[in-house]
Amino acid sequence: MPRIVEASAPGKIILFGEHAVVYGQPALAVPLTALRATALISPGVPGDGLRIRAQDLNVSISLAEGAAHGLALTARLVLDRLGAPEPDAEIAIRSTIPIASGLGSGAAVSAALARALAIYLGQPLDNAALSDLVYEVEKVHHGTPSGIDNTVICHAEPVYFIKGQPPQVFHTQHPFTLVVGDTGIASPTRETVGAVRAAWQREPALYNGYFEQIGVLVREARTAIEAGKNERLGPLMDRNQALLEQIGVSSPELEHLVQAARDGGALGAKLSGGGRGGNMIALVTPDHAGEVSQALRDAGARHVLITTVH
Ligand code: PMV
Repeated sequence: MPRIVEASAPGKIILFGEHAVVYGQPALAVPLTALRATALISPGVPGDGLRIRAQDLNVSISLAEGAAHGLALTARLVLDRLGAPEPDAEIAIRSTIPIASGLGSGAAVSAALARALAIYLGQPLDNAALSDLVYEVEKVHHGTPSGIDNTVICHAEPVYFIKGQPPQVFHTQHPFTLVVGDTGIASPTRETVGAVRAAWQREPALYNGYFEQIGVLVREARTAIEAGKNERLGPLMDRNQALLEQIGVSSPELEHLVQAARDGGALGAKLSGGGRGGNMIALVTPDHAGEVSQALRDAGARHVLITTVH
């Protein structure tokens, strides 16, 4: 296999339904194509096996050494699934997706690696098989992931997702614009998901009620998007944010950015992903995108980006 293979996967944004999706409610998520993880595979030293380097993460591991590492686990799962022996190769991972910030960096890195390795071995995986494999890795990272990250990242299309069901790709009537603001606070999803689980175990009826209310507005959001009534998404985002606050996954920093976006002219805003840090999103009209971005920067956002959902 003396050749070079490159493959990539985008980040993702959860529009509506994070956390409730772990408990069987629907969620809507879209790929974030401005940010990507990339894996480049080239032939390595004969007899040395597979080595994975991720410069941004300061990682350099062989398959044998790194059995517990997510990247090594991804490679091992690909080899097992394809029934292929370990190749003598080098995999270089690069990612522009900030880690632990709700944009799916872990799933995107795994997806890029698995996709590239399968192509390198001459047995490409289709998106569904890739998604299943990345889900196995997500379970190690997250504990009880819903599967939404791997699904939207591997399919690279907007999805309406219910745990345990085939993902439904959905289409927008009209594109809409989001501004994404990063609190700069790393917040591992595994921890927020664990905290919600503990709270749900203490007060199941209360939390089931929150999750159901979120489910209702996710369905309303899908209907609005498919009908081209994008302006309806703003108030739905605000309602989803209020419920996420009640669930306990918001934070003062997130709420500061959410408020700044609203004051700056956004139609609605909410945290996105695991919460307690990471990113928030704001729905804007295209001519307000600049103003809202500036408002977020002024309010202390570490990174701000504008993306259009098609
Ligand atoms: O923080 P992220 O981008 O990994 O999103 C997590 C989404 C949750 O609903 C909180 C967890 C899950 O597995 O769906």
